[in-house]
Amino acid sequence: MKNKVFILFFMFSFTVEDKIKSNFVIGIKMLINLVIFNLFLICLLLLTKDISVSKGSGKAKEISILLGGVLSGWDSIIKEFENKTGIKVRVVVGPPTTDSREMMYSISFLTKEQSYDVVYLDVVWLGKFASANWLENLNSFVDPKEYFRKNNIFRNYVDSLAYKGQYYAVPVKADAGLLYYRKDLLSKYKLSPPKTYYELKEQAKYILKMEKELYNNNDLVGFIFQGKQYEGLVCNFYEVLRGFGYELVDIDSNNRYYVNVKENELKEVLDYLKGLIEEGVTPKNVINYEEEESRLAFSMGKVIFARNWPYAIKLLEENKDMREKYGVSVLPGNPPAPTVGGWALAVSAYSKNKKEAFEFIDFVVNNGMKELFLKRGDIPTKAELFEDNEIKNSFPYSDVVLKSLEYSKSRTIHPLYPKISNIIQIYVSGVLSFKYDTAYASKEIIKNIQKILDTTNF
Ligand code: GLC
Repeated sequence: MKNKVFILFFMFSFTVEDKIKSNFVIGIKMLINLVIFNLFLICLLLLTKDISVSKGSGKAKEISILLGGVLSGWDSIIKEFENKTGIKVRVVVGPPTTDSREMMYSISFLTKEQSYDVVYLDVVWLGKFASANWLENLNSFVDPKEYFRKNNIFRNYVDSLAYKGQYYAVPVKADAGLLYYRKDLLSKYKLSPPKTYYELKEQAKYILKMEKELYNNNDLVGFIFQGKQYEGLVCNFYEVLRGFGYELVDIDSNNRYYVNVKENELKEVLDYLKGLIEEGVTPKNVINYEEEESRLAFSMGKVIFARNWPYAIKLLEENKDMREKYGVSVLPGNPPAPTVGGWALAVSAYSKNKKEAFEFIDFVVNNGMKELFLKRGDIPTKAELFEDNEIKNSFPYSDVVLKSLEYSKSRTIHPLYPKISNIIQIYVSGVLSFKYDTAYASKEIIKNIQKILDTTNF
């Protein structure tokens, strides 16, 4: 344990030092935040030791996996797998936020502790994990291309998970940002779902005004999204930026990465986001919203528009007050550019039970995705499951989800993506909390991301 704590502090002091160089004040504030975060993670590490849903028995092989939030769906798949193979699965239940779980996996890899045999990873962690050699190459078990073809896994997911032409993970959950809206309110005011972000803002303002004037309804909120300083904010930021027609990073003909967006374009996007709050469309506390806060606020019936992932559909369907009132559409933008999200399964390079770990992955791919959809609303990555009758019958907006997946675009694929994400988080969150003005934030985002890109441009 001592070892773990040391590495944790070492890791953070390293990134903090980078930042202090560029901005002393931000550095100090971040240092305080990170020390608090460290303590939180240490508590998590201590806590998670004891939370296992299934204990190994006798000589039976045991594999372990870290999952997040609620286990519904996973619990039945695991039971079935255990009964069929005799291999025990120990589940460590982590927090729902992707950033915290990424940190928990990273710590276990850095300490070379063999805590998890199976890695359930956010697609966005792949570059970092694969480049650090933390994941076993899938070709230790199967011919990856043949395996993906045989299982009919969505082509774009497979491609976005390749690292230097090699495959390390099998995608089992597809994700793309969606716009949830109050169908009843939009039809009451004869509006259809907005096609641009400006239209969204105007519609929200109009409905807010009318509801206030006609019914003295002062509780309504216009638009919410994931505004907290974490990876979810980065997904939202890419969607608006690209929805405005801009691109953050591109590669030139000499294979060099460069920041494509211009300062005035970025400022326009940040002004839009800040304007949502200034004009009373988005509440100030959006800076505390992750996915679940956004979903809960929308489910209470007080929000006109909300950006979220597809998992919220199932939960809104189960909510009898909302079932008839909500609609789902592709995000605004010309063209729309929902962020590619999703989760994949991989075998840890440090596992002592690699064969069994892959056996579990294969079991989920073959027998688990339908269950994960029916119990959790996780969108499968297998094309044929969209034709399955049981899935079709309980998937009211499948056409919108499929269209969003088609439009979806990955976050910048770059070995130093975590650093790029961090810069976006600091400055976009700084704008939303009125700490930075938009001209300054635009300049800093461009300057700092270009600096990161230059370290890999030779
Ligand atoms: C969802 C997405 C994941 C993304 C995360 C951000 O879980 O599937 O890719 O990074 O949200 O909060």
